[in-house]
Amino acid sequence: LQRQPMVTMDDGADLISMLHTDRRDLLDDVIGGTEETTTGVIRLRAMEADGTLAVPVVAVNDAMTKHFFDNRYGTGQSTMDGILRATNVLLAGKTFVVIGYGWCGRGIARKAAGIGAHVVVVEVDPLKALEAVMDGYRVTDMAEAAAIGQMFVTATGNLHVINGSHFAAMPDGAIVANAGHFNVEIDIKALQAMAESVALVRAGVEEYKLPNGRRIYLLAQGRLVNLACAEGHPAEVMDMSFANQALSIKWLVAGAGENRPAKVYAVPEEIDKQVAELKLKAMGVKLQELSEEQRKYLASWALGTTD
Ligand SMILES: NC(=O)c1ccc[n+]([C@@H]2O[C@H](COP(=O)([O-])OP(=O)(O)OC[C@H]3O[C@@H](n4cnc5c(N)ncnc54)[C@H](O)[C@@H]3O)[C@@H](O)[C@H]2O)c1
Repeated sequence: LQRQPMVTMDDGADLISMLHTDRRDLLDDVIGGTEETTTGVIRLRAMEADGTLAVPVVAVNDAMTKHFFDNRYGTGQSTMDGILRATNVLLAGKTFVVIGYGWCGRGIARKAAGIGAHVVVVEVDPLKALEAVMDGYRVTDMAEAAAIGQMFVTATGNLHVINGSHFAAMPDGAIVANAGHFNVEIDIKALQAMAESVALVRAGVEEYKLPNGRRIYLLAQGRLVNLACAEGHPAEVMDMSFANQALSIKWLVAGAGENRPAKVYAVPEEIDKQVAELKLKAMGVKLQELSEEQRKYLASWALGTTD
């Protein structure tokens, strides 16, 4: 069988990880790859930093036309969709805790607030915490949020952001879900160890009874609630992510002869712009063009006024 040059298209860096471990024999044929999500890009950067990464990879997630829209509006909407389909609870008036105020968290918080929930944000990054405060949300730490929250959604890409002590503090009936990449954000083992009983009460909803008499409802076993309990992001937002994937692959293949160093690359700015322009066109939205006079004014360092 003749070996063909290959490219990889990943979502979470699992394929790249496999190529660097179990299937190293295929690595020589790989021109490069693309990576869809935040968690995958973090893993690739770690591979680049310790010198493990053997092929160039484009961080599609970092394109503005990806994370600004897919992570924020796509995850925001589909996470609410997943929670509502699974539980059918009334969100208006509920205290809704969003853990992680990154691109996904911002989207989830905004949708929850839009439907009338009281949003509480938990963040570790001072800038993002401050942004959440000025966006109008209550910001606090997990210890306090656990005691006041009625619904909890994790979107951090991090490990055990909800742990046993948080479950112990939650009020009766608390609903807990994850929208981050893996099912590690919620310490499910700790919850299982604490619980006196577990019962599936609706599709995708497990009721954990704790010794303190309170019940915790875990959605989708801590997996991505928007995928497990709904249908993921609408196609109208994934189109931009996939356009970035396709155009980045084209860019990689076009430059295959250049022997690009094995590192994590940004999506070229012209691709990002092209995707935004195409999306606007598809939506029938008109873009204002700069006049020649305005172009000249912006390009000049001498002109402060027009006098
Ligand atoms: N569900 C989906 O369909 C979907 C879509 C896109 C991305 N994701 C995943 O969602 C996760 C978040 O993505 P993002 O683009 O918002 O990332 P991001 O880096 O923009 O945001 C993550 C935020 O979590 C914060 N954080 C980290 N540890 C924390 C902790 N212990 N407590 C509170 N905050 C903490 C970080 O400071 C950061 O602001 C990633 O795992 C990503 O792969 C999921």
